Amino acid sequence: MSNTNFLVPILIGSTALLIGARMVSWETNHPPVGACIGECYQSYLAEQQVREAAEAVLLAQASPADLGKRLYTGCAACHGMSGEGGVGPKVQGQTQAAIVSMLTAYKNKETRGAQSMLMWGQSEALSTADMNNLGAYIETM
Ligand code: HEC
Repeated sequence: MSNTNFLVPILIGSTALLIGARMVSWETNHPPVGACIGECYQSYLAEQQVREAAEAVLLAQASPADLGKRLYTGCAACHGMSGEGGVGPKVQGQTQAAIVSMLTAYKNKETRGAQSMLMWGQSEALSTADMNNLGAYIETM
């Protein structure tokens, strides 16, 4: 007869590990992610739809300046958090119309200052609505 006693601590050890893992997932008060199937997954999908609908409502209610503020996060590094300028010129104090016209010029690859090339890439993906929103936000600075 072979001696299998050495298996006992291994079995006890792995059982303890399994129980421990279950307790960890109970502590987080969430069903283990891998087990979110069936009803759990359906309710996850339903919650996601609610979240998306809420986000759509928020976006629909957002003013042009709110929307512009979201876009301006990509500009702040060069133009300053309050448009005070930095790598790029100061934009604070500019009107919405002026901002739209300058951004349109850059988008059309026009040269305004010595570093216009920097702004060509920045304005490339901006729609007219984006420019209007950015202008509305910059006016509030
Ligand atoms: C990598 C740095 C950088 C980023 C990011 C950047 N800009 Fe600029 N911006 C510049 C520089 C440099 C100039 C000067 C360009 C020139 O010489 O014509 C400039 C010029 C401008 C001007 C013209 C200002 C004037 O008085 O002539 C406007 C308006 C402007 N940027 C708006 C924006 C907006 C809006 C964003 C974000 C979508 C943005 N920029 C992102 C660097 C940047």
